[in-house]
Amino acid sequence: MDSTTSSRPIGVFDSGVGGLTVAAELRRLLPHEDIYYIGDTARVPYGGKSQATIERYSAEISEMLLAENAKMIVVACNTASALAIPRLENALPIPVTGVIEPGARAAVAATRNGQVGVIGTRGTIHSGAYERAIHALAPDVRVTSRACPMLVPAIEEGWLDDSLTDSIIARYLGDLVPSGIDTLVLGCTHYPLVKSALARYLGPGIRLVDSAENCAIAVRDLLTRHGIGACEKAQGTLRVALTDATDGFLPVAEEALGLTVGEVRIAAVQR
Ligand code: DGL
Repeated sequence: MDSTTSSRPIGVFDSGVGGLTVAAELRRLLPHEDIYYIGDTARVPYGGKSQATIERYSAEISEMLLAENAKMIVVACNTASALAIPRLENALPIPVTGVIEPGARAAVAATRNGQVGVIGTRGTIHSGAYERAIHALAPDVRVTSRACPMLVPAIEEGWLDDSLTDSIIARYLGDLVPSGIDTLVLGCTHYPLVKSALARYLGPGIRLVDSAENCAIAVRDLLTRHGIGACEKAQGTLRVALTDATDGFLPVAEEALGLTVGEVRIAAVQR
């Protein structure tokens, strides 16, 4: 690809605020890259929807990123990564990467006793994508999974440090602790936003891992492989668009993740 491709933005999307945990890591590792982030706030949460719906939503948001001249797409959503990546890879003229494999890699690197827990949305957990990705790397690891559907609405609401969120965590994770896991994969990009609450509940014996850092490394490698990385002297920017207005987004992005978001565009999905 030519040098004009290099200066195009990396397109990143999620159903809402969660994918910003990945965007924050991309900003840290690749500060010279421009990022164009879309949160599909008009249709969040994705987690309980069918594969056909998630494929359609992901294709529509990817078209919006293509219209912004994205040079590659990062699916910063586990649900869409689990259910829609093959369809996106077939349909899109630019490289696509997701968060499941990076999360699986982090889990395999972290576990000492070979017992890993995975939490995520219903779509992610029912797809079995994490089991497959972990077993592809380490066939003997035992994987115990739990869907935690109420966590995403609480996080979108900005309840990151809140007794109601603590109760939701206790309700879902009560039987994971005695299962013997020493590592828990936060298999939803929203969940790192409640990492402190999860750590408080699980105690020091269980390591929490997520996809963000390994995903950013995978993006850097992909850019290098395709020869489309931005010039290292450039100063990257983060632009954000949402498919509908929402109150919770900016405080979470700026206060919890320390991201400078600036003006947020509202861009309705075209069907
Ligand atoms: N952050 C997303 C994920 O990683 C989506 C959660 C949702 O919208 O339900 O799965």
